[in-house]
Amino acid sequence: MKRILKVVGVLLLLLLIAGLGAYAWAKSQSSARYDKSWEVHDASFPIPFPLSEAELEDLRRERAPAALAVATDAGGAPPVTPATTDGGAAAPDPLTGLDLDAIALERAVKRGEHIVHAWAGCFGCHGDDFGGKVLVDVPIVGYWGGPNLTTGKGSVVEGYTPQEWDRAVRHGLRRDGRSSSMPSEEFRNLSDRELSDIVAYLRSVPPVDRDIGRPRFGPVFAIMGATDPRMFPAYGIDHQKAHPESPPAQQVSVELGAHMTQVCVGCHGANLSGGKMEGDPNMPIVANITPHETGLKGWKEEDFIRSMREGKRPDGSDVNPAMPWQAYGKMTDTELKAVWAYLQTVPPAEKGVH
Ligand code: HEC
Ligand code: HEC
Repeated sequence: MKRILKVVGVLLLLLLIAGLGAYAWAKSQSSARYDKSWEVHDASFPIPFPLSEAELEDLRRERAPAALAVATDAGGAPPVTPATTDGGAAAPDPLTGLDLDAIALERAVKRGEHIVHAWAGCFGCHGDDFGGKVLVDVPIVGYWGGPNLTTGKGSVVEGYTPQEWDRAVRHGLRRDGRSSSMPSEEFRNLSDRELSDIVAYLRSVPPVDRDIGRPRFGPVFAIMGATDPRMFPAYGIDHQKAHPESPPAQQVSVELGAHMTQVCVGCHGANLSGGKMEGDPNMPIVANITPHETGLKGWKEEDFIRSMREGKRPDGSDVNPAMPWQAYGKMTDTELKAVWAYLQTVPPAEKGVH
């Protein structure tokens, strides 16, 4: 009896040593991946984007009657000819006196707010006040959170240049060029304008003082990071690929839908067939949104829009709020219809095979 206890004891001890050894190996492997430095292309863009020619034209048209009225009030003859004719007193440029930079900024902030709240969902991980949010804090798993993106104390984006924004959001890198665990695989196809708009918006939110610190790899994170480099999205991103300057046009098109659906793959999988998500015990089984029997086959466009706006499936049952439909419900009709148009074109796949 005593002998057996001894043998069992020795075996347990060996197991413990093996376990600790495996953990130590996994931890050093993950840390090495996290500390890898990357070569990235140069990227730059204005923040905010100046008004486009079309926007200036619209403003001119809106202001033209006002400019005429001003000219008439001033006692001069109303300029009947457009400003393009030369000779004589030139008609006043309807844009005179307008603060075009301020208008451009105001519009950029508004677009950025829509992108962040209806679609990109940065607040889900960085906090509703964007001051940072702890996402996981479980000793056996590890510690992980989205850092402070405001201008307050503890911000990780203080003084960020457009190039640094590009690296953080579209390449999954920290300021010093090493890997981050920011889920940039979902944002790598953002256009310059969208990223610029997001930054304009984030700069407009009230500063928050909070510092949540960097991740720590407990056993589960260490093993995930050691066995699957995708825990650090920089490993799956082409760091030399040029970014488009503008997003697809706002019209119901498969192209716009594909662009918008890039943010769905983090949960629904690269082929959108859903299934169990590793590493997140709180996430229910993710639905298959391909046109397969185990997915959205038989759904109509209005069923899809209702699920995104009201969180109801065609049979009346509720969609679990782990699916961020309250945010996606703020997409415009055009955007939702474009997503639906795109989902019709993806290959039907059996649930949970990705
Ligand atoms: C699924 C969660 C999640 C979402 C969604 C998310 N982030 Fe992050 N983000 C993180 C985490 C976690 C980190 C810190 C990673 C680390 O410390 O390794 C991070 C880091 C960052 C950083 C700093 C990079 C670094 O590591 O220094 C910036 C900038 C950033 N995120 C911006 C954004 C913006 C803008 C959006 C929306 C377009 C967004 N994030 C959406 C989780 C998220
Ligand atoms: C944070 C994870 C997450 C993201 C991001 C996400 N989903 Fe979901 N989605 C889920 C989960 C989980 C379910 C299953 C909910 C349930 O079981 O009630 C789901 C369900 C759905 C459903 C209902 C399908 C059904 O049969 O119940 C639709 C439609 C859907 N998602 C579309 C989308 C689209 C489109 C996007 C991107 C714009 C997206 N989802 C992004 C997690 C996510």
